[in-house]
Amino acid sequence: MMLDPSNWDETRAIGREMMDDMLTWLETVRDRPTWTSVPADTKARLDEAIPYAGSSLGEVYEAFKRDVLPYPTGNVHPRFWGWVMGTGTTTGVLADFLAAGMNNHLAGYDQSAALIERRVVAWLVELMGFPKNASGLLVSGGTEANLNGLMAARVAKAGFDIREEGLRAGPQLTCYGGAETHSWIYKACESMGLGRKAFRASPVDADYRVDLAACRARIMADIAAGDRPFAIIGNAGTVSTGATDDLDALRDLADEFDLWLHVDGAFGALAAWTESRTIVAGLERADSVAFDLHKWGYMPYEVGVALTRSPEAQTATYQTAAVGAPAYLRSAQAGIAVDTTYFADRGFQLSRGFRALKVWMSMKEQGVDRIAGAIQMNIDQARRLGAMVEARPDLELLAPVSLNIVCFRYAPEGMAEDALNPLNQAILVALQTRGIAVPSQTVLQGRFAIRVCIANHRSLDEDFDVLVEAVLAIGAELAAGSGQPPQLTLTSAHSA
Ligand SMILES: Cc1ncc(COP(=O)(O)O)c(C=O)c1O
Repeated sequence: MMLDPSNWDETRAIGREMMDDMLTWLETVRDRPTWTSVPADTKARLDEAIPYAGSSLGEVYEAFKRDVLPYPTGNVHPRFWGWVMGTGTTTGVLADFLAAGMNNHLAGYDQSAALIERRVVAWLVELMGFPKNASGLLVSGGTEANLNGLMAARVAKAGFDIREEGLRAGPQLTCYGGAETHSWIYKACESMGLGRKAFRASPVDADYRVDLAACRARIMADIAAGDRPFAIIGNAGTVSTGATDDLDALRDLADEFDLWLHVDGAFGALAAWTESRTIVAGLERADSVAFDLHKWGYMPYEVGVALTRSPEAQTATYQTAAVGAPAYLRSAQAGIAVDTTYFADRGFQLSRGFRALKVWMSMKEQGVDRIAGAIQMNIDQARRLGAMVEARPDLELLAPVSLNIVCFRYAPEGMAEDALNPLNQAILVALQTRGIAVPSQTVLQGRFAIRVCIANHRSLDEDFDVLVEAVLAIGAELAAGSGQPPQLTLTSAHSA
């Protein structure tokens, strides 16, 4: 009561206005620049003192419309292809609103929301080709999902009771994977107390896939030195180029040394839902897999997924009952406290929100086939863009297009190699600051690459035409040192 509206009708009216405005904002996203920097006066206004006194919801909403809404990351835009950011969907927006309204606590409990999370996890288990009784949890994102898998690996393969005794009770634990593995691995090794060096990064081949012989040799050398290897990390879609390791071969390698195989499929695992599934073949043989629905599942932040093949692996890692369930969290036979910690026993969080609702509503409303169709469309768009780059003499493809990522640079004939990195960096910044498009960057064999990662259901083929023309025009302009912005026609067509 204290914090509820004093006038519900007024709040209802503003709520309707918010909903209307947001849907219109999404509908018209294509008409705006991809990204705009926050202006100095807005920054100054946002640097405000603690609002002890409060104001009306209407006033706060006006401030939101003026100072917050116009300066987003940009990833809802059809020409945003930076890092690995998903686009979100209107269904997801509405679902998050409904979930916030219900405000469920998803440690477990006897409630409909728990049944929804169990159901969507079962769907995701099946879609990834895992056994029906595999265990799963919705988490904050890829970093946490990967940590969840690696923690399970550590408990399963340490060879001693690591939960009870800690690291001091055994030898140095080590894990393996390609040098292109995402930086989550270092956060995970640090968080687990193993130290960064515990990740033994093996070189990658010309296609950016882990060198299996080098990985095998490193495992053997570490065993000989008295270390205890516990896991191999395979990549289904590396962050820089989208490469997928030979997951079947990694499974066999893991079995040879009785290691856990964890696959980071943060975005790449979603290819398993499409006709391009052979790209990630072997994924279904992993002991655990991590992937994000807020990336290539197009759902709004935050929702990642941690699956383990063994039904007990997550609870063996996280269940507090194993070390004596605290009285205040014990499950009861009846009442709300049935399965109190069903989900909390599978991961770090105790208090958890109703992420599952946007997953359930999106999958039901859009249908998995339609989501998979958008993923396949992005794969096709990456292939088309790669071909366009190869067809233009002034552009150079810097890595094979194996999934949804295209890495290339502007490299006109005759330009000195050492001029290309700063030039392409400047082209990238110009693309972003002029609001044309947002790719991001990577460096491949010392060469700065404009990196286009397509996890965007709003992108049309013509958006990539705009990008290619813009890179060529800006490249020529900057190379000539004219400083004049190129005249580019931005399409205003709406996505189908
Ligand atoms: C391959 C890969 N793994 C892990 C992550 C981390 O995921 P998150 O940002 O959801 O924590 C990313 C993020 O882009 C990624 O691309």
